[in-house]
Amino acid sequence: MGKVKLAVIFYSMTGANYQMAKWATEAGQDVGAEVRLLKVQELAPDSVIEANSKWKETKEEIKDIPVAKSEDIEWADALVFSVPTRFGNMASQMKQFLDIQGGIWSQGKTVDKVVTAMSSAQNPHGGQEGTIKALYASMMHWGAVIVPPGYTDESLFKAGGNPYGTSTSVGSKGEILDDVEDAVKHQVKRAIKVAGWIKTGKQ
Ligand SMILES: Cc1cc2nc3c(=O)[nH]c(=O)nc-3n(C[C@H](O)[C@H](O)[C@H](O)COP(=O)(O)O)c2cc1C
Repeated sequence: MGKVKLAVIFYSMTGANYQMAKWATEAGQDVGAEVRLLKVQELAPDSVIEANSKWKETKEEIKDIPVAKSEDIEWADALVFSVPTRFGNMASQMKQFLDIQGGIWSQGKTVDKVVTAMSSAQNPHGGQEGTIKALYASMMHWGAVIVPPGYTDESLFKAGGNPYGTSTSVGSKGEILDDVEDAVKHQVKRAIKVAGWIKTGKQ
C-alpha cells in the first residue's frame, strides 16, 4: 500500500482554524501520510477584510497556502476539514467549496473518501457541534466515510469532549481557549488509520 494521501482543508479569519489545520498537518506527517495543507477561496470583499486588522493579518499569513481544488479531493484518500462557526453554521467560504464539487461528485469521485471535521466558535454552545454535523450532512451526499473521534482517546476529554470532531472556543483575536492540540492530532491519526484500511481493502 502506498502512503495515505491526506488533504487538510481549512477556512480561517482570525487564525484558530489555521492553527488546528497546522496541527492536523503535523499529525499526518508524524504517521507517514503524504499531506497537502490547503485553504478554501476567500469570498469576502477586500474592503471588509481591510477593515479588520486580525483578518488582514491572517490573510497575509496564509497567502502562500494553495487554494483547494477538485483535483485535491480526487487525489486524497482522507480529508480533514476545519471551519469556524458562522451564525451556528459553517462559514460560507467552506460551503462554497463543497458546493462547487458537483462535477466530481457526479462522476463518483467523492465516494469512499475518509472525512473528519473540526470547528471553532466564540462560545462553547454557539454552534461548534452543529457546524461539524452540517458539514457531515454534505459528506453523506458525497458517499464519504465519516470518521468522528467519538471518545476513542483520553485527549478528547481535556479538549471539551466533542465526539463529532475536535472544536474549541476562541477569544476575540482568534486565541484557542481549549486544550485541543492532542485531540486534533488523535482525530487526524485515527482518520488516516481508517483510510489506510480502506486503501488496503481496495487493492
Ligand atoms: C459573522 C460571524 C458569525 C459568527 N457566528 C458565531 C456563532 O453563531 N456562534 C459563536 O459562538 N461564534 C460565532 N462567531 C465567532 C467565530 O466562530 C469565531 O470568530 C471563529 O470560530 C474563529 O475562528 P478563526 O480564528 O479560524 O477565524 C461568528 C463570527 C462571525 C464573524
